[in-house]
Amino acid sequence: MRQPLVMGNWKLNGTKASVEALVKALIEPAAKADGVEVAVCPPVIFLGLVEKLAEGSRIQYGAQNADVHTQGAFTGENSPVMLKEFGCKYALVGHSERRTLHAETDDVVAAKFEAIQKAELIPVLCIGETLSQFEANETNAVVDAQLKAVIDRCGIAAIANAVIAYEPVWAIGTGKTATPEIAQAVHAHIRAYLAGFDADVAAKVQILYGGSVTGATAADLFGQPDIDGGLVGGASLKPDDFAQIIAGAK
Ligand code: G3P
Repeated sequence: MRQPLVMGNWKLNGTKASVEALVKALIEPAAKADGVEVAVCPPVIFLGLVEKLAEGSRIQYGAQNADVHTQGAFTGENSPVMLKEFGCKYALVGHSERRTLHAETDDVVAAKFEAIQKAELIPVLCIGETLSQFEANETNAVVDAQLKAVIDRCGIAAIANAVIAYEPVWAIGTGKTATPEIAQAVHAHIRAYLAGFDADVAAKVQILYGGSVTGATAADLFGQPDIDGGLVGGASLKPDDFAQIIAGAK
């Protein structure tokens, strides 16, 4: 049985005051989440603050990005080893905003995935198609290629110690949530693709859905057999909305 996981990707948002208020507001919903794991991914500059605020709570946390380098002359990068030192459990990798805005290819994503695991963090591998690829019925081919790049470099066993997040690019930040049926079909395809390498790994890996998840859509999405929770952007910045999404995963 896969544990449901609801993760907030705060992207580049927050102030010291808003981060403190948001984490404090999530402590009770996380405590009452009945078996649902709750995690947040703040901007990296707030990780020390989140570490302090989340101490003793059921809130896990992670980074939105990690570099392949762990230390040295790499100005501005985030070392996965340093992220681990600040208590991170997770690190996002391959988010579409990094693939597009930072030219992160499938090979770069695979290298980052490997470095994240080497630092004993759990990579959250983000995959998903653009609107034009969706309209051209290329979704399955796109997610297969994104997964294959990681499997080729790290092996299928590495996927057992990772989380996958299917995030159709056309649903991110648009308010156009994928229907439960569309999302389930892709999640089932992802699990079947992985099963072609190793059935046990495919059965165990958590596959989250991301893309305009709201309190109104969460329960129907998370109720699908191959959807194990959500990677939530905008709605994760609003404690009441995020609490409703967590409740939808129970
Ligand atoms: O990583 C999650 C994010 O891409 C989804 O954003 O605002 O559509 O929930 P949003």
